[in-house]
Amino acid sequence: MAKLGVNVDHVATVRQARGINEPDPVTAAALAELAGAEGITVHLREDRRHIQDRDVEILRQTVKTRLNLEMAATDEMVGIALKVQPDMVTLVPEKREELTTEGGLDVVRYRPILKKHIDLLRQGGLVVSLFVDPDIEQIKMAHRLGVEYVEIHTGTYCEARRSEDRKAELAKIGTAIRAGRKLGLGINAGHGLNYQNVQAVVALGGIEEYNIGHSIISRAVLVGLERAVREMAALVREG
Ligand code: PXP
Repeated sequence: MAKLGVNVDHVATVRQARGINEPDPVTAAALAELAGAEGITVHLREDRRHIQDRDVEILRQTVKTRLNLEMAATDEMVGIALKVQPDMVTLVPEKREELTTEGGLDVVRYRPILKKHIDLLRQGGLVVSLFVDPDIEQIKMAHRLGVEYVEIHTGTYCEARRSEDRKAELAKIGTAIRAGRKLGLGINAGHGLNYQNVQAVVALGGIEEYNIGHSIISRAVLVGLERAVREMAALVREG
């Protein structure tokens, strides 16, 4: 059965918008685990726009399931990962100007630089995953680079508007899963998955873990709003 890893970056985004200490992604991670999440994912970006170093350090001590650290393949991030020792490191592409991770890492193009960082991470005892598009050449190269896992980028499938495009993207994901498994890779998937589009991917089978963030945090805001307003209204009335 597939597992759910919850990405709590968006809780940190709300906190950073105010520059104060709430809502705390560490608390959100604990609640996600209590609700059945089998992993917690955070993306420590180079510009620290949401998750902070302090979050990663505390999560390492408090996460009871598995901590997956998403990061760019840079010397700074490799140093942090070796120090923090997450249960998995997922290498992702990162450009400062993007709103979120846009597409998979081009492991064919960036093979030499990735090789250096992957080797350092693996020598440090870490399990490494590469976030890649559902493309056979990328999967084959990930395997050649010696990683244990790939995370298949589902964003293009999620963004497809026409049903034939969605079907074509889903077929690519299915082919990538089969190719990866044949090579002995563990397969994770994520990006853009929501309450409407995840089941078709689950039906493909073969995926170990889904890393899902935005749709879960968005839903939490809405399903939690009524209670939050009721509680504040009571305080205002009684006050
Ligand atoms: N997987 C990776 C590699 C990501 O970069 C992200 C976004 O941070 C996710 C999964 C989660 O994507 P979403 O927030 O769209 O669920």
